[in-house]
Amino acid sequence: MGPEVPAVAARAKALVLRALAGPRSTFARFLLGTVVAVVCALAVVALALPGLAEHFLLAEKERELTLRGLRAEGVVRAFLEGGLGEDQAQAYLDVLAAEDSEVWVVNSDGYVVLESGIACQAVSGVPQYGMSPFPPGGPWVSPGGVPGRGGRWMRGSRLAFPDAARVSVGEGWSSTGEHWAYEVPVVSVSVPVTSADGSRVLGAVYLHSPVAGVSFTVGTLRRYLFLAAGVGLLAAFAVAWVLSRNVTRPVGLMTAMAKRIAEGDLDARVKGGLDELGELGRSLNIMAERLGEARDEGRRLEALRRELIADVSHDLRSPITTIRGFVEPLLDGTVADEPMRRSYLETIRRETDALGRLVADILELGRLEAGRSSLALTAVDIERLSRETVTRYRPGADEAGITLSADIRGPLPAVEGDEARIGRALGNLLDNALKFTPRGGRVTLTAEPVPGPGVALAVSDTGPGIPEGDLPYIWERFYKVDKSRRRRGESGGGPGSPSGDGVGLGLAIVKETVNAHGGRATVESRPGQGSTFRIILPAAEKGPAGPA
Ligand SMILES: Nc1ncnc2c1ncn2[C@@H]1O[C@H](COP(=O)(O)OP(=O)(O)O)[C@@H](O)[C@H]1O
Ligand SMILES: [Mg+2]
Repeated sequence: MGPEVPAVAARAKALVLRALAGPRSTFARFLLGTVVAVVCALAVVALALPGLAEHFLLAEKERELTLRGLRAEGVVRAFLEGGLGEDQAQAYLDVLAAEDSEVWVVNSDGYVVLESGIACQAVSGVPQYGMSPFPPGGPWVSPGGVPGRGGRWMRGSRLAFPDAARVSVGEGWSSTGEHWAYEVPVVSVSVPVTSADGSRVLGAVYLHSPVAGVSFTVGTLRRYLFLAAGVGLLAAFAVAWVLSRNVTRPVGLMTAMAKRIAEGDLDARVKGGLDELGELGRSLNIMAERLGEARDEGRRLEALRRELIADVSHDLRSPITTIRGFVEPLLDGTVADEPMRRSYLETIRRETDALGRLVADILELGRLEAGRSSLALTAVDIERLSRETVTRYRPGADEAGITLSADIRGPLPAVEGDEARIGRALGNLLDNALKFTPRGGRVTLTAEPVPGPGVALAVSDTGPGIPEGDLPYIWERFYKVDKSRRRRGESGGGPGSPSGDGVGLGLAIVKETVNAHGGRATVESRPGQGSTFRIILPAAEKGPAGPA
């Protein structure tokens, strides 16, 4: 007797408690539910059907025995009235009794005066005579009567009270079950026999048939029923099993998928069937898909943000470094001669300007994000603005050996907008075009009305173009197709090399400006053939202005 006994008891208790609490898994519950429902249905059938069948068969037997009794009426009447000999009557009764019943003829005083000779086996042929003096042996030897058991007969006995009384008044009746004359339950029918005119009661014909036949039939029925129930139960179990699996398996798979998603594996998917669960699975897949996209987008934005900070920091630091590099020699007096000193100071001013532009661009982008509210709106004469902007860039273009022209097509509708900002956006586009177009190229600013109504301003160049894969991104802050260009100022090294071209904010500013004006900015470019940047600004609602 170690400490195991209480442990085992505890475990047993736990097991019992668990069994009482019911199965946990949906599968088991589903299965159990279906099986219990089928068992209940089968139980109802198995309990009700044999009873019903028994009832029906017994009623049928009673009816059949009554019919036999009625058919015998004429012969029995003739016998009881003395018109038919005993032998003939006896022969008739034997035929009437057949294999399955015994027949008595009772006279109006209640005495059994004749009975079928071939005792029914099933009734055992051994009546229990609990009444009347009983004649030892009969005039007939019954083949079914089993003489060894006494071969007792009813003939000469008198029926007991209610039966004799009923016979005497010509009342017919029937009963099923225990009978005083038999060891086994019987169906008994008594058919009264009257004189032909019905005025006188002559006696009755009794027919007894064992219930055993019915019981046997019902028993057989019950056996088949149980067999069928067993088969049905097995089939139901199988079907329930398959159904439960079909339901719980996808649920299980989806649960597993949801778990994986919860653990961060957004690539988890389930296969969907055609039913509602399949629909659910597909919805889950779509959800996972969306989550994955959101995650990727989030990652991209996060990477972008980091890059942005790195870019801003770098682009702020590099001019500062340059400035520092030029200030030191000025301070410690190593730069003695005047032209050198001047060149140093000019570089410092250029870098300071670049720094100022960068900061201004960043601030500008921030302000533009506020949208239309940040604009100083006036009616803008796009034609004049275009010509002025081109004029402003012409010296630079000439210096770079690029042909710069303005192409104003037709009267342009007025645009309500922030002139300085539209001018700056246009400047950014021209700036890029001139910057990327090689010597001998052409840059054209086209302005034309477009349906909408609005104005389209297009800057096209004969530059290198932009690879298709980069096109969607060039509008993003600090995005540059050729990353190395960004560091040009730095790679140039020490004093004398300016920070160079922009940092990738120009197009972002264009886009934000155009968006703030309710317009849109597009780009078409084919590598090697040049690019066309187009901004479309909606016309002011007042209608066309300017020369008609
Ligand atoms: N006209 C153009 N031809 C070729 N590439 C261009 C042109 N305009 C813009 N790009 C590309 O788009 C990028 C972003 O332009 P932008 O935002 O103005 O930045 P930045 O001019 O400072 O480089 C440029 O770095 C360049 O790669
Ligand atoms: Mg630029």
